[in-house]
Formats: sequence, C-alpha cells, structure tokens
Amino acid sequence: MTLFNGVIQCFSVCYLKMNSIFSNKTWLAPLAGYTDTVYRKICKSMGADVVMSEMISADALIYKNPKTKILAEFDEEERPIGLQIFGNDAHKISEGIKILKEYQPDFIDINMGCPIKKIVKNGSGGALLKNPEKIKEIVSSAVKVIDNEFPLTIKIRSGWNSDESLLEIVKIIESEGASGICLHPRTKTQMFSGKSNWDLIRKVKEKTRIPIIGNGDIKTPEDAKKMVVQTGCDSIMIGRGVIGNPWLFRQIKNYLQNKTYNSILPSKKIEMIFLHFEKLKKKIGSKIALKSMRKFIPYYTKGMKNASKLRQKCNQTSDEMRFIQYLLDFKVGLKNG
Ligand SMILES: Cc1cc2nc3c(=O)[nH]c(=O)nc-3n(C[C@H](O)[C@H](O)[C@H](O)COP(=O)(O)O)c2cc1C
Repeated sequence: MTLFNGVIQCFSVCYLKMNSIFSNKTWLAPLAGYTDTVYRKICKSMGADVVMSEMISADALIYKNPKTKILAEFDEEERPIGLQIFGNDAHKISEGIKILKEYQPDFIDINMGCPIKKIVKNGSGGALLKNPEKIKEIVSSAVKVIDNEFPLTIKIRSGWNSDESLLEIVKIIESEGASGICLHPRTKTQMFSGKSNWDLIRKVKEKTRIPIIGNGDIKTPEDAKKMVVQTGCDSIMIGRGVIGNPWLFRQIKNYLQNKTYNSILPSKKIEMIFLHFEKLKKKIGSKIALKSMRKFIPYYTKGMKNASKLRQKCNQTSDEMRFIQYLLDFKVGLKNG
C-alpha cells in the first residue's frame, strides 16, 4: 500500500466511525444509577444507536477505586459506546482518560454539565461552565492524550446561571479539537426545572462545524422529530424519557421513517420488568438486583391502575419470591381490570 492509499484508508475508517456515531443517531443519555451495562443492552435491543456509561470520576480512576471498573466495563454488543469522565483538573482528567483508553471505547465524553451539589462543589461537572479557560485546558490536554484514537465529545449545559457564555464555550471546545458536543440547554441553576431551550441547540448548530447532539425533554416520538426539525442537530440524546420506557427508541425510528408507531401494552411492560430483573440478577445477584429494580418499577408502571400499591409492596420486600409474586398478581390484575 502506498503512503497516500494508507492515509486515504485511515481517513475513510475515521470518517465511517464518526458517521456511525454522530449522524442521524439516537443516543441513550448517561444516567447515573440507571444506565448500567444491563439497561444499556436493553436500550440497544430496542433501537438505541449510541450509548454512554454513567459518569466516572477521574480521581477514582487514578486511585484505582474498584467501582470505576464496574462503571467502565461494557460488552461488545453495546458498541458504539462512549465512556464518560468527570473531574476538575486537566491533568487528572487526562490521566483518567489514559486509564479509560484501556477499555477501548468508541469515544470518550467529558461531563461539563452535571448540576448536582456533590459534583459542582468540587469544581467538576457544571461548575466548569463558569471557567472557559479551564474548559480550554481540559479539552486541549484530553485531545492530546486521545491522540486521534477515537472521538472526544463534551457534554454541556447552556451555562452556570445564564447562557451568555454558551457560544464562547462551544467555540473553545470546537477549536481545541473535540469531535462533538452534547448539549442539554438548561443552565446549572435551573437543574431540571422549566423547559430546555431548544433554540440554543439551533444557535449552537448554526455556529459550529462539529456535530451537535441535542438533548433535553424528549419524551415522545413527536418530541424527537420536533427537536430534529427545530434545531437541525446531527443526532438526538434521550435520558429520562427512556427510563422504564426503552421502547421509545424503536417508536422514534418508526415515527421518523413511517410517521407511525405502536404503543406498548402494559403486560409487555411487566414482562420487561421480569426480563430486566433476570439480566440484573445474573450480573449483580438477586439482592442488589431487587433493590435496583425498585428504582425502575415506578417508571415501567407509570399510569397503570394500582401501580402505587405495587411500588409500595416491592419497596417493602427483600424476598425475591414475594417480589415476583407481586408482579405476577399485578399482571393478572391488569388483565382482569
Ligand atoms: C438520574 C439522572 C442521572 C444523570 N446522570 C448523568 C451522568 O452520569 N452524566 C451526565 O452527563 N448527565 C447525567 N444526567 C443528565 C442526562 O444525561 C440528561 O442530560 C438530562 O437528563 C436531560 O435529558 P432528558 O430530558 O432526556 O432527561 C443525569 C440525569 C438524571 C435525571
């Protein structure tokens, strides 16, 4: 192979890889406490194109905290997958990325949006939005460490308490060499109140050349279409809307392609709870799986008759047999009701 052909081939592979992540894709948002490997695989099986790990602390990676291994590990069937890191210091984040590289993800994402007190009080997550200089330092050193092995994305909110620095921040991220930006257009101060401002996604898309992944308040296939049309974003990302509702990924695909989609029967949702629980049990054992399922049950059963009674019962038992019986009774009740 000539040098020229080699360069062309490398360029084509990179281009295809980028395209398979950024163009017209539906992403599962990182959701700490929810999007573990089991739920990511469920979402993949329901049509999610790209998934991301829960956020992983750069400090914890450096100190070899065993929890980070659980957060960073994934199965081949989850690809393309990004591993997300958070921290407050360019050097530490780069050291953390060196460790994450060993897992061979398809891309790395840096969290610059998390509004939670525990995270921002250390200057990580959304706190970085107050400090464009630091953002520049972090992105620049991360790009060097990644050394073109895979894309780097940055996940941001629209600002700390206003969006006035958003375009400046986005320009910095782009010019320092990041491959894409995931934008949840709420400020840190807003937390999850109000509505995300999709106009900001459009503005950012108009002013940048790197792919923009639009995020915030997609709850239905109609929302997904609206976001694409209204903002021109390259891909969309969904978080809360798919907790206990992984079918949304498939519904969105059907709606975008055929302008129609099927709704999901309550009995199918209960079957999914059983499947989810079985998969979790295999991974983490029955006791922790049961605890984890308690978080999901209110989402899977939202709007169903007697759902609050089911939730209460499931929250009060640590006995697997009882847990299963409650769900079976609930399913029978659905048929009879
Ligand atoms: C329970 C929960 C956990 C989250 N964990 C993360 C996280 O680990 N990393 C991150 O970048 N964002 C995290 N987010 C933010 C989401 O990824 C997403 O940006 C936000 O929920 C807005 O999208 P949505 O309206 O589709 O939910 C989390 C949000 C929630 C509700």
